[in-house]
Amino acid sequence: MSTPALVPALHAFVESLDDAVVLFDADHRCDYANPAAHALARRLGAADGDLAPLASLVPEPGAAPCVRVSALGTGDGPLTLRVAAHLRTDVEGLALMVRDVSEDTARQADLERRHAELSRNYLQVAGAQEILLQSEKMASIGQLAAGVAHEINNPIGYVHSNLGTLQDYLRRVFSLIENYERALGDADPRAWRAEIAELRQKLDIDFLAQDLPELLAESREGIERVTKIVQDLKDFSYSGRNEPFRAVDLHKGLESTLNIVWNELKYKVTLEKHYGSLPPVECLPSELNQVFMNVLVNAGQAIKDRGTIALTTGVDGDEVWVSVRDSGEGIPEDALPRVFDPFFTTKPVGHGTGLGLSISYGIVAKHHGRIEVASTPGAGTTFRIVLPIRQPTAAADRAAAPSRRIGPDGA
Ligand SMILES: Nc1ncnc2c1ncn2[C@@H]1O[C@H](COP(=O)(O)OP(=O)(O)OP(=O)(O)O)[C@@H](O)[C@H]1O
Ligand SMILES: [Mg+2]
Repeated sequence: MSTPALVPALHAFVESLDDAVVLFDADHRCDYANPAAHALARRLGAADGDLAPLASLVPEPGAAPCVRVSALGTGDGPLTLRVAAHLRTDVEGLALMVRDVSEDTARQADLERRHAELSRNYLQVAGAQEILLQSEKMASIGQLAAGVAHEINNPIGYVHSNLGTLQDYLRRVFSLIENYERALGDADPRAWRAEIAELRQKLDIDFLAQDLPELLAESREGIERVTKIVQDLKDFSYSGRNEPFRAVDLHKGLESTLNIVWNELKYKVTLEKHYGSLPPVECLPSELNQVFMNVLVNAGQAIKDRGTIALTTGVDGDEVWVSVRDSGEGIPEDALPRVFDPFFTTKPVGHGTGLGLSISYGIVAKHHGRIEVASTPGAGTTFRIVLPIRQPTAAADRAAAPSRRIGPDGA
């Protein structure tokens, strides 16, 4: 297309633009203004044909691209205008292009406000979830408290009784020493020999010498056991808030969790441990212990009279797994898909909140792992917790979503 033909086409195009286009000469007089420019001048309070408000929009060198001006002509709020100025090539002067971006700016401000609100809500939900996690943990400890107290009471009981025995042993030893001292103070100590031998026998000193080390070892073991349980309890109730992921021995976590739940299990459960050789696993240990506890307590509760819980661990490629198999009552087929739902419980009121597995599911998902269940009603249930040995990086994290798989028995 030749230039003369192009000119009317361009003129029509500029006339139809929603953006204001104004040409100023070297003296800031207006050569041309499209209809959008006239409309904008009117919105800025000018009379028909007066383009002075647009002349005042000519930006100073280095000015920001957007300006906010009052819309005096319409009674609207202030307008946000994006102004672009170009040097004219035909004559000395400027070509000004002005776009009303008030709506875009308002929309962006609205989006930013909503984003800030969402971030605030997210933080609130995350905080509430953390509180829930901790409450569930404390509630479980509350339920187990009597058992833990019993576990502590037992060793304290025999340490106490051992101290009584020790007191008696000491009394006997001192009475023998007393007699030795008397003999030594005598002109003829040998004359005491028979008497001391008789006393030694009477006080059963030989037995005492043999029993004393055992008594002390047993008491020390009792105290160590109490210390261990108290430490496990402390570790367990630790909120783990802002706890970083760290590589730990999962078996240690399993053992300390077993210590806490042991009293719930020991009267009816035969525990079989088949621990594989596990590498350190990157995890939040106090949260994983909460999962182990929920699954172990559930297994114990599913066994009515006597039964077995098999605790097995192993490695599979870059994952480790912990399986808890019980010989309990099993889960009916229709209940199996719901066991991870919050508040799903088949336990009597006051015995279960139905939060244990749903919280465990959340914790395992946070570890980029999965928790699987398979059950045969009347024969037992297996929960399998699979965890990556190392946590994926943030990028891989976004791609992977946790899965909730139901095992073959309950598919
Ligand atoms: N090992 C299991 N054997 C049989 N049923 C189980 C087993 N584990 C879980 N369930 C079923 O899943 C339900 C939900 O378990 P969950 O641990 O979430 O809650 P709960 O044990 O009922 O209550 P809470 O753990 O909050 O005290 C249980 O009520 C039970 O019906
Ligand atoms: Mg439970």
